[in-house]
Amino acid sequence: MADVFLSVDEVSKSFGGLTAISNLSFQVPERSIKAVIGPNGAGKSTLFNLITGIDSPSVGQIRLGGRVVNGLKSNRRAAMGMGRTFQTPQIFEGMSVLENVQVGCHLRGRAGWLDALLFTSRSRREEREMHDRCLEILEKVGLSDKANEGAGDLACGELKLLEMARALALSPQLLLLDEFAAGLTRNEAEHMMKLVREIRDDGVTVLLVEHDMHLVMNLSDEIVVLNFGEKIAEGTPEDIQRNERVIEVYLGTEV
Ligand SMILES: Nc1ncnc2c1ncn2[C@@H]1O[C@H](COP(=O)(O)OP(=O)(O)OP(=O)(O)O)[C@@H](O)[C@H]1O
Ligand SMILES: [Mg+2]
Repeated sequence: MADVFLSVDEVSKSFGGLTAISNLSFQVPERSIKAVIGPNGAGKSTLFNLITGIDSPSVGQIRLGGRVVNGLKSNRRAAMGMGRTFQTPQIFEGMSVLENVQVGCHLRGRAGWLDALLFTSRSRREEREMHDRCLEILEKVGLSDKANEGAGDLACGELKLLEMARALALSPQLLLLDEFAAGLTRNEAEHMMKLVREIRDDGVTVLLVEHDMHLVMNLSDEIVVLNFGEKIAEGTPEDIQRNERVIEVYLGTEV
């Protein structure tokens, strides 16, 4: 069995009197694609916020590669290899497509501020390498012909690809995708699905929240189902589609 890369251990999160996540445990094996699904208000976004460090659990632990990350800020988690995309793309509209990807690269750069200030050969070499790598990433997601265009001019599907490119620029080991297919056409969603598979095959562990069941069932190795903050099922897409509790509370007759 593959090693566990992300582990959520007996995590609960309350907002005042409301329990958004209740005693939740699950693991994501290295180099696998796991999906979190559940009806509106089930706690999916809250869970992502706990994993990425935007918020912290009331109880329980989050472990990344065996290390407890509770209490670490989002930027520290990003530097540890946690990349993410947002449901609403967080793009710098005044910058070019390439510059937006370079922002992701800089979070991982080794040259310090002194190197940058003195424009040392180390910082120059690093800049050149970053530039080439960011172009390669744009090539991978299919946006290289737009590298020098303004990010503000991109269409919705292209913005989602740009977000993906920027997350990849971090060289993530874990990629968290929040509704990455929302607003995409069927063709764009298929392209995205192929891309996520390639990213996994390159060695990245993927956790995604997604409402598009066709995509979830076709892409995921395993699925966790939440309802009112509780895990009601976990298993392969086949297990989940057959699970009576899931059909009752969530899937209805759609799948
Ligand atoms: N910051 C907050 N303060 C108070 N309550 C919150 C907060 N964030 C989330 N909640 C509540 O926690 C519950 C879970 O919300 P969450 O946004 O995690 O659900 P979700 O599964 O992402 O839903 P959706 O599919 O609609 O995006 C909801 O009842 C929500 O109102
Ligand atoms: Mg949500």
